[in-house]
Amino acid sequence: MYILGISCFYHDAAAALIRDGVLVAAAEEERFSRKKHDYGFPTRAIDFCLQQAAITGQDLDYVVFYEKPLIKFERILMSLLGTFPRSWRTFSEAMVAWFNEKLWIKNLLMSEVGVEADKALFVEHHLSHASSAFFCSPYREAAILTVDGVGEWATATMGRGTAAWNGEGENGIIFTHEQRFPHSIGLLYSAFTAWLGFKVNNGEYKVMGMAPYGEPRYLDKVYQVLRVEDDGSFWLDMDYFSYHYSPEQSFGPKFVALFGEPRGREAEFFTQLTNPEVDLGDPSVRANQHYADVAASIQRATEETLLKMANQLHRETGLKHLCMAGGVALNSVANGRLLRETPFEEIFIQPAAGDSGGALGAALYVYHVLLGQPRRFTLEHAYWGQEYSDEEVCASLDANHIPYEYLVDDERLIARVVDGLSAGRVIGFFQGRFEWGPRALGNRSILADPRRADMKQIVNDKIKFREPFRPFAPVVLEERCTNYFRLDQPERHQPARYMLYVVPILQDKWDVIPAVTHQGGTGRLQTIRRETNPRYYRVVEQFGEATGVPVLLNTSFNLRGEPIVNTPAEAFSTFSNSGLDTLVLGPYLIEKARIGQGGR
Ligand SMILES: [Fe+2]
Repeated sequence: MYILGISCFYHDAAAALIRDGVLVAAAEEERFSRKKHDYGFPTRAIDFCLQQAAITGQDLDYVVFYEKPLIKFERILMSLLGTFPRSWRTFSEAMVAWFNEKLWIKNLLMSEVGVEADKALFVEHHLSHASSAFFCSPYREAAILTVDGVGEWATATMGRGTAAWNGEGENGIIFTHEQRFPHSIGLLYSAFTAWLGFKVNNGEYKVMGMAPYGEPRYLDKVYQVLRVEDDGSFWLDMDYFSYHYSPEQSFGPKFVALFGEPRGREAEFFTQLTNPEVDLGDPSVRANQHYADVAASIQRATEETLLKMANQLHRETGLKHLCMAGGVALNSVANGRLLRETPFEEIFIQPAAGDSGGALGAALYVYHVLLGQPRRFTLEHAYWGQEYSDEEVCASLDANHIPYEYLVDDERLIARVVDGLSAGRVIGFFQGRFEWGPRALGNRSILADPRRADMKQIVNDKIKFREPFRPFAPVVLEERCTNYFRLDQPERHQPARYMLYVVPILQDKWDVIPAVTHQGGTGRLQTIRRETNPRYYRVVEQFGEATGVPVLLNTSFNLRGEPIVNTPAEAFSTFSNSGLDTLVLGPYLIEKARIGQGGR
């Protein structure tokens, strides 16, 4: 039985295909359309999923959309009418968008995917989130927490899931608590993201990266706009916000009166911690420190709210395992604290925890809950995207007359990569199926030596061109993790495979891996195990043997503002248009120094 899940029209669009409850393919549309955070109908991602299974739309048993458009429409209509006339612009824009497209999603599923009306189903937004975590997790029973911007009405839910394994038990997800729009931790964080001069839905990571440069001095002010009870329920004072009626602005004049003027769009950021030589009397330094302190304050408030929710969930369920999903579950600093500071022994978060993951969750919900089928799949890795054969890579290189070396012996190739990394070269590493979710995890990655303090700057100068205050992430062999990071029994902590935990780095290692040690001594690590990506594992392992440090700097393979590369041609173009030194495309190795010199 084939079930295709689809998410789109709000945040990241995606498609995911399961066969008899087992994941076959999952991908975000942006990787194909090359439009970052593409939220349009995921035609190309759907085509890829069908091709991967070698089927057509007619072979699908169900197509499932990740939310219920009519209920969402009701929420938008009611909240806009409730704030009329302030909402008139949003109102008119929303009506056009909904009447043009969004209300007719069933027709769209029928015409674009080619299924009959009775095969098109809809699952509520937060049920899709919850299913994406619980039905991918290894647990028979778990507490579930979903937190995001907004779905239909819900912005956060708490509940539990039960699963049937080997013919025993029953599948189900029950929500015991629900928070509703406009009260939303995700939208609150986004309002601060916008106020701090970053793009909403893209800049939240930057707020998280900026926070360690500040102190949470304004926590009391954040709690003036956000009330949180000990049981994790929360309310926003909507007088401070405008996202419920304005398309452009998420915070209002009262917010500005409380926190000050917003930071300029993508303005330069520097404080005494980013640059010890700055003049502390300089007003722009003081202003930047203020922004960092506000970033630290909203980050801290988010963490405290999630801690309260998770603690309450533990009190109510008494369960050892927690499954999390929704955009806020991508807050890896908060996730690290949830693991360390709540009684939950393990947390499961799948790599596409945001809205794209709803496609996978919706499909799994139909299979397990609506159809009552037992579980037989757990998600162990993130490699569910498209791959290219060696022949395809070779054809792409030949067609463009690119000089390469073909290294049929993988160990030789890995030795070359390790030699290059040790010599300070920055390497684009492309292999296999691209990753599901926002992180590059070794198949579309840029790798570099984390031991050099200047490597962060080098990678930024060569390709990333991103804000210098943002950290780069480390990848470490799972079994060597505890030598560097405060994460006991890393094999139990799947989110660490997907860079979803920020954890403390052991203090005596800060100087050993300075390029991936963030302000305050933390790292958003990726743990890697041999069985899920042997080649990537060998690179890190060999680097460890050569240097004594089984850690690399791993960042996503893309130019600033572009989605992560998908095809070999995109990888080569990114390589050519950047300062990357070496490109690995499967078994092919290309040195920048040799390009243009002919011969191979
Ligand atoms: Fe969501």
